[in-house]
Order: sequence, then C-alpha cells, then structure tokens
Amino acid sequence: MRSRWIGSALVVDAPAKLNLSLSVLGRRPDGYHELETVMVSVGLYDTLVIEPHDDRLELTCEGESGTLPGDDSNLVMRAAALLKSTAGVKHGAVMRLIKRIPMQAGMGGGSSDAAAALVGLNAFWDLRLSSSELHPLAAQLGSDINFFLDSPPLAICRGRGEVVEPQPLACPLWFVIAKPDRGLSTAAVFRQLDLADCGRADSRAIVDAAAQGHPGLIANLLSNDLQRPSRELSPEISDLLDRLQAMSLFRAQMTGSGSACFGVAAHREQATRAARRLKQQGVKDVFVARTAV
Ligand code: C5P
Repeated sequence: MRSRWIGSALVVDAPAKLNLSLSVLGRRPDGYHELETVMVSVGLYDTLVIEPHDDRLELTCEGESGTLPGDDSNLVMRAAALLKSTAGVKHGAVMRLIKRIPMQAGMGGGSSDAAAALVGLNAFWDLRLSSSELHPLAAQLGSDINFFLDSPPLAICRGRGEVVEPQPLACPLWFVIAKPDRGLSTAAVFRQLDLADCGRADSRAIVDAAAQGHPGLIANLLSNDLQRPSRELSPEISDLLDRLQAMSLFRAQMTGSGSACFGVAAHREQATRAARRLKQQGVKDVFVARTAV
C-alpha cells in the first residue's frame, strides 16, 4: 500500500485486484465458502486522504462512488472504528475517499479501501502496529482485506481469502479490464453456484507460470468457478467476455464474483488497442492496467 505525506495529510493509494484463478472448495458451517484463489494487485487505485480532526471519525466519498455512503456502514469507517477502539486511540480523523475502482465489479475496491484505512491510520496515529497485529483486524472485517494489507503483486489466498501466501511474479502482466453497466452482488452469485461444477483450478500451475514470467501460459490457465453463476445472472457478462475473446488478447475471464472481466495482453500496446476497440463498441467502463509494483 503506497502512501505519502502532503503537509498534515496522509494520502494512501489503494490498488485493485484481479483473480487469475478462483476455485470454490466447499461450503463452510459459517455460511461462507472455502476458496483457493490466485490474485494479482493491479495499478488502478482509489485514494484515501486522511487529515486531522477532533476525536470523531468522518468520511466523504467522491468520484465513481455513486451512492456510496460515508456512514458507519462503509467498510472504511468500520476499519477505522475497529482500529481506533482496538488501539484505544483518543484522536479522530477526517477521511476523503476518491473512488476510481468500479464497485460491485469483483476488483476488491471496498476491501482495498478498508486496508488503506488500517494501514493509513496506523501510520497517521503513529500506532506502530505490526503487520501481524493488523491482519486479525482485517480478517474480522471481510474476505479480501488481508491481501491488500501487504498488496503483494501476486498471491495464493485461501480460507475465505484471508490466508495470504505471496508468490513471485517474474514479469509485469498487462490487462484490459471492462465492466458491464450493472454490477453483481457477491452473495447472489454464491447463491447461484452449483458446487458440483467447482474446485478444479490448478493454482500451483499458475504460480509456476508466474514465477517463470510467461503471460501466455498464465492466460491459458485462467479459471473462475464464479464465472458460470455470474453469467447466468447477467447476460452482459457473457456479451463482454465474447467481445474480449474476439480481440487479439491471450484470453479473457471474469474477476471475483464479477461483474468486471479482463483480458491478458502480451504488452501495453495490445491492451490499449483492445481498450480503444471496446470503447468504440460502446462499452463505457474500460481500463488498461498492469500488475502493481
Ligand atoms: O466477503 P463479503 O462480505 O463481501 O461477502 C459477501 C457474501 O458473499 C457473504 O455474505 C457470503 O454470502 C458470500 N461469500 C461466500 N464465501 C466467500 C465470500 C463471500 O459465501 N468466501
């Protein structure tokens, strides 16, 4: 998680993620599903600006946030309140969240923002909590937040997503990412899932291809058990995947529980060309991004 001081404000950049593979291994007694997923951090960022305040926490949201409330239901506020109470902090903070990562897209925007609040406020309040002290707080708040605490370029994540094992990535990966107008609810996608279709992704093979620096090989190994239920819920996803597959890209897939989809490109120019064509075809939310460093 990158951060910098500008006067008395701390500015934190919260990256997005893409799932190269996502395997659902089964349903757990707590209602969540056990996952094994290979994730990359990508250089498309929300920004969290933290400034001094009295003893209260305040949040405003701008940018792509639409109707995202800055109240206590916002994951950033929940992360800030949890850190404040856990560490017994008397100060408050006023936070401004500038959204660029599309929401309900499977790109981890909300989780990354929450991780930015934990990492940012730890520095802002000079708490000096170690990464191993922040991880349990992240795990309490949601599924992907642990990944973003350290934002490794690539990791295998297990459990609900909270057990993160960073892995080497020998080359940058370039992506064209596009999102249909409509987002999808994670809970709805899991409800639509048929477990009989799940659990066949080969995470180890993807990680090996990443360690060797083979974007084409990585693309051949893409898989996501949530893609089929998401396509059933949203025909726009099938349409977008068809459009991506028709471009000269290695391969395309949906990320997380959708609704954003991505194609793996051989290089920046190929990703940029595909993005231009998608825009010409009328797709509004299109991004070119590479793995974050
Ligand atoms: O993690 P998050 O709260 O965003 O997940 C939303 C919903 O998606 C959960 O309430 C659960 O129904 C479902 N989910 C799941 N297994 C996971 C992650 C999410 O069943 N590993």
